[in-house]
Amino acid sequence: MLEPAEVERIKALMEWEAGRDAPPEGFPTLPDMPAARYTSPEYYALEQEHIFRKSWLFAGHLDEIPEPGCYMRWHNAGDPIVIVHGMDGVVRAFYNTCRHRGAPVVTEDRGKSSRLMCGYHNWTYKTDGTLVGVPERQDFPPDFDMSCRGLLPVRCDMFGKVIFVNFDPDAPSLLDWLGPIAREWDEFAFDRIRLAARHSFELNCNWKVAMEANMEVYHVPFIHPTTVAPLVDSKRNLNTMYPGGHARMIAPPPRQTDREHVRAIDSPPEWQQIETVGELGRSCTQSYTLFPNWVSPLSNYFVPPLVFWPTSLTTTRLELVTMALDWGDGPAPDLWTVPEDSQPNGRQMSPIILEDTQFGEAIQQSMQSAAFRSVPLSYQEARIYSFHQACDRMIGIDNVPEELRIEQVIGEDWVWPNDPRTRQMLEERQAAE
Ligand code: FES
Ligand SMILES: [Fe+2]
Repeated sequence: MLEPAEVERIKALMEWEAGRDAPPEGFPTLPDMPAARYTSPEYYALEQEHIFRKSWLFAGHLDEIPEPGCYMRWHNAGDPIVIVHGMDGVVRAFYNTCRHRGAPVVTEDRGKSSRLMCGYHNWTYKTDGTLVGVPERQDFPPDFDMSCRGLLPVRCDMFGKVIFVNFDPDAPSLLDWLGPIAREWDEFAFDRIRLAARHSFELNCNWKVAMEANMEVYHVPFIHPTTVAPLVDSKRNLNTMYPGGHARMIAPPPRQTDREHVRAIDSPPEWQQIETVGELGRSCTQSYTLFPNWVSPLSNYFVPPLVFWPTSLTTTRLELVTMALDWGDGPAPDLWTVPEDSQPNGRQMSPIILEDTQFGEAIQQSMQSAAFRSVPLSYQEARIYSFHQACDRMIGIDNVPEELRIEQVIGEDWVWPNDPRTRQMLEERQAAE
């Protein structure tokens, strides 16, 4: 929950942003980013090894495994795993790899069982991973220790009803990973929201190309003239960078638009509002990047993350998820997709997402040409630069070849809770008085 004083500060800063005639005082010049960060197999391998193996990753919603014994397969980040709602009520994740000869223990995408049994030789595990059954046990040595042959765990934690996993046993806790965002997200009722829709689409571009289309508002008037632009005054956008590469944008609607009025048209009354959402979530567009691959605009109607999974250097799986509080007896709300018979999963991306993804494949091809040298980013695109800084830090700066590395120019002085813009704004006010 944001304190009232913080809400006022943000509102004032949004107005102040629109009045700037240059980047804020002292904001670092962002050096060009090397082109090869999007095209180099070497950088891709580093991302896989260090970012996707060590970060907390969105895995799903408790509604997908609602009861004890329910399980789901998950393989969005390489190694196949299974997420299990234990008979004891605890949600856990395991590598979906039998400790006997490596067969997958679970072979359906979803299921329910009080035991997990590998189909190859029927080794059987409890939902907490313990190995409890080995047929023809007498043929293994007498001292064969079943207790050390349980399913191997993957870190798994929940933020409300949303399930995250992390392959790194030494990673910080999920709450530490979220940092200040955990408190800011209180109002969005992650502990009560239901899963309304989840669909995935394959894109022909690097995952960062796809994701960065959702990490700046610079493109909004040009790519989204009739869809997003009427709701977002990009001039009054305020970016905030958080520790760990997370970030937030928040922008009010253009002065001539009443955001609540627009929302009321968008959102049938049976879609229950998240009543705890505060003034900014109701009146503005805000979107959070959660490092490494989640971008979600949050409002009083929806928690609808877009999640970007690299499937190769030049391909991405985009997951479009809608979570909402409740929708009565009506159809479940889906913010991002529309019905489409000819699509494999019966859905097509919504017009806004089609606008955002339309150039991905062509950008990727163009980026692989000799003409693509480097990327200059503006102050308005600083969330992208800060995200890249976090990528290099996660990889380990010394592990990134020099020609691929970016300089860490956005220092802690520009990262939450620090914000030199507040002082600049107050000084300008005083000078004007
Ligand atoms: S591989 Fe699983 S029981 Fe043999
Ligand atoms: Fe967009």
